[in-house]
Amino acid sequence: MNRPLLNRRLTGLGTTIFAEMSELAVATGSVNLGQGFPDTDGPAEIARAAADAVMTGRGNQYPPGAGIPELRSAIAAHQQRFYDLAVDPDSEVLVTAGATEAIAAALLALVEPGDEVIAFEPYYDSYAACIAMAGGVRVPVTLRAPGFRPDLDELSAAITGRTRLILLNSPHNPTGSVFTRAELTTIAELARAHDLLVISDEVYEHMVFTGEHVPVASLPGMRERTVSISSAGKTFSFTGWKIGWITGTRELVAAVRTVKQFLTYVSGGPFQYAIAQALALPDEYYRSVAGGLLGKRELMCDGLAAAGFEVYRPAGTYFITTDIRAFGEVSGLEFCRKLPYTTGVVAIPSVVFYDNADAGQFQVRFAFCKREEVLTDALTRLSVLRPA
Ligand SMILES: Cc1ncc(COP(=O)(O)O)c(C=O)c1O
Repeated sequence: MNRPLLNRRLTGLGTTIFAEMSELAVATGSVNLGQGFPDTDGPAEIARAAADAVMTGRGNQYPPGAGIPELRSAIAAHQQRFYDLAVDPDSEVLVTAGATEAIAAALLALVEPGDEVIAFEPYYDSYAACIAMAGGVRVPVTLRAPGFRPDLDELSAAITGRTRLILLNSPHNPTGSVFTRAELTTIAELARAHDLLVISDEVYEHMVFTGEHVPVASLPGMRERTVSISSAGKTFSFTGWKIGWITGTRELVAAVRTVKQFLTYVSGGPFQYAIAQALALPDEYYRSVAGGLLGKRELMCDGLAAAGFEVYRPAGTYFITTDIRAFGEVSGLEFCRKLPYTTGVVAIPSVVFYDNADAGQFQVRFAFCKREEVLTDALTRLSVLRPA
């Protein structure tokens, strides 16, 4: 048995950095600002709705493959309410095991071996793995500091006769960049001109501080070529429930559903009832999502800058990208491996999100979806750092 165990498509891709950093956090008693999950749960009434669903026997057995009708209707109503997008809950919505499964199923459904998939790097770590599993070829277009704007000429030049789709993520993890309507309009024009599909990962849609979230599917001619993805984990702060969804045309949803059927078939029955209720929360709740994070963004950006980091203030998401060169450091990876020992804080080296390592080697990402006292503690710990 001298063949490697891991499928060679995935060799070198499985970033072990999250596990390594989480272990370091535990071993050193550090404040973990590495992995991006909140340290407070979402609304108590929604948690209670999930518990009630379990206790009253709703969703304890396999729910319908596309998701329970109540949740599909609530997702369609959400798209109408926030974006004026009309979606048929019966044929144009699919509930998934988080956005992670939605991304995997969409790529496996829509990409044939050898197809090129353009994605803006740095990218969320599942993109490279899922493109590889589909046998696709990833074609990165780099978002560069300080603004992390999409270079639309570079995007245009990256399109070839083999390009199948563009994988978008706005608001963008890890940079916090929010693509503008003008940028998305140009991306949409390119997609239409070259007959490309778009997968649009919008899990941070309700976490925008500057600018607006524009679903690419709402732009002219894009509804029929876009798979839109979102997740309850982010918006309602229940990341462990793994309730995500896609919306798109009947044909796109049918293709993705075919793959989903063989990945998980269904998941999270009782949670689906609770998220159906959550999606109907009043506008005030949705405003509080970004509103509650804004003060933390300011606290962390100002604190990190005071500690000596160059800070790229995010327009959305709950991540901050920084540059560490002021400390005389040249490797974000080595910096993050030392940081728990020198300060008692864990962060993630952004280089793991890049193909083009040169663009990301000095960058380090901090998550700020934590309680204020945790962030203050982290900043106090980081204040021992000294610029070179
Ligand atoms: C850009 C992006 N997409 C998708 C996901 C995964 O979402 P879920 O937890 O719903 O699978 C994340 C989670 O961090 C993310 O940052």
